[in-house]
Amino acid sequence: MSVSRVGLIGAGAIGRAHLVGAAQAEGVEIVGIADPNVASRALAEEFSIPWFADHRALVDEMKLDGAIVATPNALHLPISLELIGAGVGVLVEKPIADTVKEALRLARTAADANVPLLVGHHRRHNSIIRTARSLVRDGKLGRLVCVSVLATFLKPDAYFNEAWRRTAAAGPVLINLIHEIDLLRFVCGEIASLHAMTSNAVRGFDVEDTVATVLQLENGAVATITLSDTAASPWSWDTASGENPSFARHPVESHFISGTEGSVALPSLRMWHYAGERGWFHPLADEQVRHAAANPYVEQMRHFGAVIRKEELPLCDGFDGARTLEITASVRRSAESGEVVRFK
Ligand SMILES: NC(=O)c1ccc[n+]([C@@H]2O[C@H](COP(=O)([O-])OP(=O)(O)OC[C@H]3O[C@@H](n4cnc5c(N)ncnc54)[C@H](O)[C@@H]3O)[C@@H](O)[C@H]2O)c1
Repeated sequence: MSVSRVGLIGAGAIGRAHLVGAAQAEGVEIVGIADPNVASRALAEEFSIPWFADHRALVDEMKLDGAIVATPNALHLPISLELIGAGVGVLVEKPIADTVKEALRLARTAADANVPLLVGHHRRHNSIIRTARSLVRDGKLGRLVCVSVLATFLKPDAYFNEAWRRTAAAGPVLINLIHEIDLLRFVCGEIASLHAMTSNAVRGFDVEDTVATVLQLENGAVATITLSDTAASPWSWDTASGENPSFARHPVESHFISGTEGSVALPSLRMWHYAGERGWFHPLADEQVRHAAANPYVEQMRHFGAVIRKEELPLCDGFDGARTLEITASVRRSAESGEVVRFK
């Protein structure tokens, strides 16, 4: 198998996860880091690869096939456009861009140039989520009826010492809810409309600390997502799935998906159905659905290598990433206006 040469642009928290993922992934090698923060030089030394203060030097000197853009959000668009201009395949972190307009510009530029563009919605590469998607798509739950998502957790007070995290540029809608919206689209189907309410009553910042969203899917199912970064609670994908080892893990469920023939809870993949007579007077049987556990960051890097070599199509391309951003951005719009937002 040929190995794609990849550069890492932005070596912060998620940049490190990509370095660790790439070290275990087949067909891809991170050959250099670009980050103006000199502290990232130590990370380059740890992985025995060259460090550059500027991404242009990394691109010019390292003969890249692809690059990961893991910088602050505002740089996603300009850096990705430069990479596409140089014919370098891009894995851009979520959100794909700051605005839907920018996201669509990036998606169109990549498509017109025929340069691969993958958006870093890493949960799509998680085998639990992929198994749940197959259960839904293969009709194992019957017709999809409803979905309940809990994403309630407590960010420590120190997290908010950085001023931008208390403003509308951050907040749990843009930082956390975007993962739930993308998961819902990926597993259960396209979203037709939504209504949302937000609250900042606990932390009192300009930006929300809690949000409740009601969504209608195109297939007729309805969903709710309740999310808070100020709740002392174990019920969230991040603290229940073990996907990110930095979080304490609790063996609880966060996602409940129900159809006419059965239901499944995540992350356990415990499925419920009527073995005999149907209806609430009769017991449901439960079954543990098996899946081949794999690290989604490793799988995302393997996939990126294959996308660069045009062996696979991006699991989340620019237009898909733009759609998730559009729906996520509309949550605040609905909360402010009190109106239902409908999508074309
Ligand atoms: N997929 C996920 O689960 C996930 C998780 C966390 C963050 N993210 C996304 O990843 C991105 C980075 O988030 P983070 O938490 O790692 O942030 P971070 O602040 O820890 O890291 C960002 C890094 O980018 C560097 N940087 C700034 N300007 C740069 C430039 N011009 N060129 C190169 N590097 C530059 C900074 O010095 C810093 O090291 C954000 O878009 C965020 O939304 C995704």
